[in-house]
Amino acid sequence: MSLRLGDIAPDFQAETTQGPISFHEWLGNSWGLLFSHPADFTPVCTTELGKTALLKGEFEKKGVKVIAVSVDDLDSHNRWVPDIEEVNGVKMNFPIIADQDRNVATLYDMIHPNASEKATVRSVFIIGPDKKVKLTLTYPASTGRNFQELLRVIDSLQLTANYSVATPADWQDGDDAIVVPAVSTEDAIAKFPKGVKIVKPYLRYTPQPNK
Ligand code: BEZ
Repeated sequence: MSLRLGDIAPDFQAETTQGPISFHEWLGNSWGLLFSHPADFTPVCTTELGKTALLKGEFEKKGVKVIAVSVDDLDSHNRWVPDIEEVNGVKMNFPIIADQDRNVATLYDMIHPNASEKATVRSVFIIGPDKKVKLTLTYPASTGRNFQELLRVIDSLQLTANYSVATPADWQDGDDAIVVPAVSTEDAIAKFPKGVKIVKPYLRYTPQPNK
């Protein structure tokens, strides 16, 4: 069965390029970004892993631990890492899970047989400190993901987790946020001292509360 938002992200034990992990223990109290790759020594994956390594500091600033998975073994991952480093001019600084038995791929429903019998699709799971799935994305093997979008969506998820606000279309960190429908306009005016702009009774903006 596929994982849905709000489900507990399945725990697992695995070998990785940074040693064995127990997933929930490895996450600790952090947010997590778990993302899958169709296979080692493939071009799009090589660019994605390098991009993630380059952005690791940005994820860390937001309290997010990143981890990749592909259904190849540890030996293959270790032979591939120097290529990723060379091509992207970066040191690999986060773990890649060796999932040759497809345990993680199965738990997270990352193999879509009508796309490929063997390889995983490009799945993304963002997991909150409560170990619940906050966001899922599925891309085909041929489309590399937009890691700036992953950083953006983490900003939105964390804002919603900490304040009673949502974020509008194309929102970027620093833009006005939307007061969630569950908060009355009267309560919103009291709750958001920076002000509430009422466009419709159900569409109320407030400056981003944590800026
Ligand atoms: C890749 O990872 O580069 C890739 C994998 C399968 C199809 C196309 C690209």
